[in-house]
Amino acid sequence: MIYVLLLDLGHKDNNDSSENITIVAVDLQPMMPIKGVKILQADITHPNTLSRILEIFGNKHADLVICDGAPDVTGLHDFDEYIQGQLLFSALNMTTCILRPGGNFVAKIFRGRDISFLYAQLKCFFEKVTCAKPLSSRGSSIEAFVVCENFSLPEDYKPDISTPFQERKNPDMSYIVPFVACGDLSAYDSETTYVFDTDNSTSLDAIQPPIGKTYLTIFSTLINRILAPPYKRAIEMKRKGELQYI
Ligand SMILES: C[S@@+](CC[C@H](N)C(=O)[O-])C[C@H]1O[C@@H](n2cnc3c(N)ncnc32)[C@H](O)[C@@H]1O
Repeated sequence: MIYVLLLDLGHKDNNDSSENITIVAVDLQPMMPIKGVKILQADITHPNTLSRILEIFGNKHADLVICDGAPDVTGLHDFDEYIQGQLLFSALNMTTCILRPGGNFVAKIFRGRDISFLYAQLKCFFEKVTCAKPLSSRGSSIEAFVVCENFSLPEDYKPDISTPFQERKNPDMSYIVPFVACGDLSAYDSETTYVFDTDNSTSLDAIQPPIGKTYLTIFSTLINRILAPPYKRAIEMKRKGELQYI
C-alpha cells in the first residue's frame, strides 16, 4: 500500500484542518473504506497510477508519500530483497513526479546486503535519510523504514514516470544512514510471549470474522467456508482423541 498525502494548509479560513487534507491510498488489492481517504485499487509500478492520483489532487503536489508496499515474500531472501528494492524504486520514481520540494517520503525496506546502495540513491533526492525500526516491527525481521526528509530534485534529473527509475551514478554508491529504534516500552513487544490472566479472559477461535460491515457483506460466503471448513469436524474429533486412523 502507498499513501500519498496532500496537506493543503493554505485554506486558513477553514477551521477543520482535516478538510484541508487529501489522502489517497493505493493498493493492488481491494481495501476496506477508510474515513477521509480516497481509495485507489492500482499498481504503483504502472505509469497510469500517477495520473489517477494527480487527478484526485487537482494536479497539486503532495507533501508526504508513505509506502508500506511489499511483494508476497518467497522465503528466498536475496530474491525477496531484490523485489522489495525494485518496488521501492517504483515508489521513488512516482515520488519524484508528485512530491513537492521540501516534502517527505517514508518507505518500507528490507535491510539486506545491498541496502547502502538504496540509501545512496535516496540521499541523491533527500537532504536527510534515516533508517527507523519501530517496536511494532519484529526484531528478527529485516524489515525497517526509511524516513527521507526535505526533497529536492538533482539539477540534471528529469522526473519521468513513463520509464523505470534511473539509478543515479553517484561516485559514492554506498551510504550509511543513522539508525533509530523507536517506540516506548509501554507497548506490546512483538518478540515477547505474554502470560494472560486466563480467569478473566476468554479464548477465541484463531480465525475471527472481520469487524467491518462492508467486508463482512462482500466476503460472507468465503468467511463461512473459512470458519466452518469441511474438515472442521475432523479437527475437533482429533482434538478430543476420537479420530480413528485406519
Ligand atoms: C505489508 S502489506 C501492507 C498492508 C497495509 N499497510 C495494511 O495495513 O493493510 C503490503 C501491501 O503492498 C501491496 N502491494 C504490493 N505490490 C504493490 C504494487 N505494485 N502496487 C500497489 N500495491 C502493492 C500488497 O497488495 C499489500 O497489500
